[in-house]
Amino acid sequence: MDKLIVRGGNRLSGTIPISGAKNAALTLIPCALLTEEAVTLRNLPRLADIDGFQHLMTQFGVSHTIPGKRPEEFGRNVTLEAMRITSSVAPYDLVRKMRASILVLGPLLARTGEATVSLPGGCAIGNRPIDLHLKALEAFGAQIELAQGYVKASAPDSGLPGGDFDFPVVSVGATENAVMAAVLCNGTSVLRNAAREPEIVDLCNLLTAMGAEIEGVGTSELTIHGVKKLHGATYRVMPDRIEAGSYACAAAITGGEVMLQGADAGDMGSTLHALRNIGVEVETEKDGVKIAANGPLKAHNLTTAPFPGLATDMQAQLMSLLCKAEGTSILKETIFENRFMHVPELARMGADIETEGRTAIVRGPCELTGAEVMATDLRASMSLVIAGLAAQGETTVRRLYHLDRGYERLEEKLQLVGADIERVGDD
Ligand code: UD1
Repeated sequence: MDKLIVRGGNRLSGTIPISGAKNAALTLIPCALLTEEAVTLRNLPRLADIDGFQHLMTQFGVSHTIPGKRPEEFGRNVTLEAMRITSSVAPYDLVRKMRASILVLGPLLARTGEATVSLPGGCAIGNRPIDLHLKALEAFGAQIELAQGYVKASAPDSGLPGGDFDFPVVSVGATENAVMAAVLCNGTSVLRNAAREPEIVDLCNLLTAMGAEIEGVGTSELTIHGVKKLHGATYRVMPDRIEAGSYACAAAITGGEVMLQGADAGDMGSTLHALRNIGVEVETEKDGVKIAANGPLKAHNLTTAPFPGLATDMQAQLMSLLCKAEGTSILKETIFENRFMHVPELARMGADIETEGRTAIVRGPCELTGAEVMATDLRASMSLVIAGLAAQGETTVRRLYHLDRGYERLEEKLQLVGADIERVGDD
């Protein structure tokens, strides 16, 4: 298995192209199940999770073609066509590798009247139940059964009537599943306390381009008037705000200056606000966001929250940055119960971090030194790369499959701005 070798100390400078958003792509791809016409997605990131999801789609009879684009380019366009759904079963073998597979439940049910999807199970960052996905679909008139590790959802013969659902907890995935089901319901559905993440706006924009009728896009109350049929569309995936935020932390920890080309500052409000408070200069430009860390970094307290709050997916990377900031920072994780697994690894690199339940206390600045590290999830892995860029000596990051799930050509992008980083085969 490959590993990354990072030799710290280089100041990052230059331009990093920002890819299409993984989490948006993972909810845009299943939209192809909602129509018999072709859906073309542009700017899809080239990632293991995206390949995995496309593979899952073939299970249902969805064809996909990749026009043009040479492999050395970032991003790709993919056309998905679900003329006929040949199966509405998502088997355990495919679902267990990728939690986001649960996002086929709503669209399969809405299009064919039934869906059988394996329960995804837990993951490293917590228990991650899907009860809200199921409750929202039940509110639309679906019958749900759980048996042998599978969810079996079915609609009445006349189709799902639609209905109202008030989310007791804000859930990105459950909102996405509900929206994808509601667009083909017979009546109107109202979702309250819906997630407002930019990826949900992206989803609603694609569905609208396919002929869906959605009111309140970008707010926590979505009113969806079901339509009989949706048609095909061509749609460009939004830029990845988490990838951009991660590279902002990478640049800042090295005292560097980078242009995050294609990043959308409008989607990154809380991350950019945090960076400014830490002492990083942030400038919004027409074609991206410019980050410069010329002065000292200052401690800052952070709490994760649903959008527009600080994304939980930025917590680990900002924690690495705060290790180099002057003073004590307190980070509170409110979304997932087990999301500090990077802390012991950062401690092995010399960080002074104490955790108490869902709170981490970071005392900085500290001298980071290179070490052999590995992480158990995607963003935690990125936080170790970021720390490695500022550490003295060599850091080896293992279990790269996590990074490959979410960062398109990570080492190439960091090399572009002067990082000393390489991927080597494990021995
Ligand atoms: C998505 C993102 C993930 C991000 C997370 C929070 C994708 C593919 N993944 O994950 O990167 O970290 O949003 O921004 O887009 N919950 C329930 N019941 C449910 C569903 C969720 O209790 O049925 C809870 C979860 O345990 C968690 C909270 O709600 O505590 C938020 O989770 P959710 O927003 O659903 O995360 P995902 O959609 O899985």
